[in-house]
Amino acid sequence: MATGLRVDVLGAGIVGLTVAEELLRRGHDVAVVDRHPAGGASYAAAGMLSPAAEVWHGEEEILRLGLASLALWPELAGRLGVGLRRDGTLLVGYDGGDLQQVERQAALLHRHGHPVELLGRAGVRSAEPTLARAAGGALLPGEASVDPRAVCASLLQRVVLRGVPRAGAEVTVVATGASLPRPWTGLVSGVRGEILRLRSDDPPRRTVRGWVGGEPVYLVPRGDGRVVLGATSEAHAAPPVVTAGGALRLLSAARTLWPALDRAELVEGTARDRPATPDGLPLVGPSGVAGVVLAAGHYRHGVLLAPLTARLVGDHLESGAIEPALDPRRFAGVLPEGAR
Ligand code: GLY
Repeated sequence: MATGLRVDVLGAGIVGLTVAEELLRRGHDVAVVDRHPAGGASYAAAGMLSPAAEVWHGEEEILRLGLASLALWPELAGRLGVGLRRDGTLLVGYDGGDLQQVERQAALLHRHGHPVELLGRAGVRSAEPTLARAAGGALLPGEASVDPRAVCASLLQRVVLRGVPRAGAEVTVVATGASLPRPWTGLVSGVRGEILRLRSDDPPRRTVRGWVGGEPVYLVPRGDGRVVLGATSEAHAAPPVVTAGGALRLLSAARTLWPALDRAELVEGTARDRPATPDGLPLVGPSGVAGVVLAAGHYRHGVLLAPLTARLVGDHLESGAIEPALDPRRFAGVLPEGAR
């Protein structure tokens, strides 16, 4: 079993920082390399820990991996001294077509044996009195949320941060999100997310993931009046900016669902690229190049999957263990010769 390794982690987003904290706790010599720490997708993220609400058809592995990672969050949040809200997620369908979307999601979760409670109009109202009349919804108990900025701030106090890699690192963990170095660059592409931050005197009680006339939207309350409203999703090559059209779509869908939005203060708009892989699952494990491990490509699930990723990277470095679903070598066919 390898111990006391000298490890550089490239990337101080929530994944890189959580990996670094785990490796430090296991007694390794760790430095994190990033000139703009916690400034990428983690800065935009709402912090939903929602393996069931975030699972889509074709991405069912996220449910299994997300549940395993969610189970690690209470201990991580406790260690870092950050709040973890465990009020569950409410799925809401505004009109009949939107409700079908909720029912499809509930059926998928049922097939996987995951608890989900379908709600009619009155059930949605009593679960969330701040919401407008919606066709129906479903309650996903046990889901949670954290403030990713608070998590990153706490992690940054625990790690050594550098502007450049160290000479003599035995292992490099690449956790640079949507911009991977060569030869892995092509494995991850950016999917733009625009997200707004509000302050309200009448916020929802728990995370709400809704569909309004086919438009997906979510509201994540922090419990102190702050509410995160997300998120657009669009492949984009240009630098990330909040567009008027993106903000309009989010505001108008959210306002239909949550009328108190009209009185909320619009505090911030942020745009960042989510790091998407061809199959929507992260790259965690051997990179194909000796001494380089990937922990990247977490797409919509970086916050949720951070503690599981940290555990997998630690286990891989110490015992060679691999989670097959996330093994980056599943893309060996599309990697250049040097990285197979
Ligand atoms: N996980 C939420 C999002 O990517 O917008």
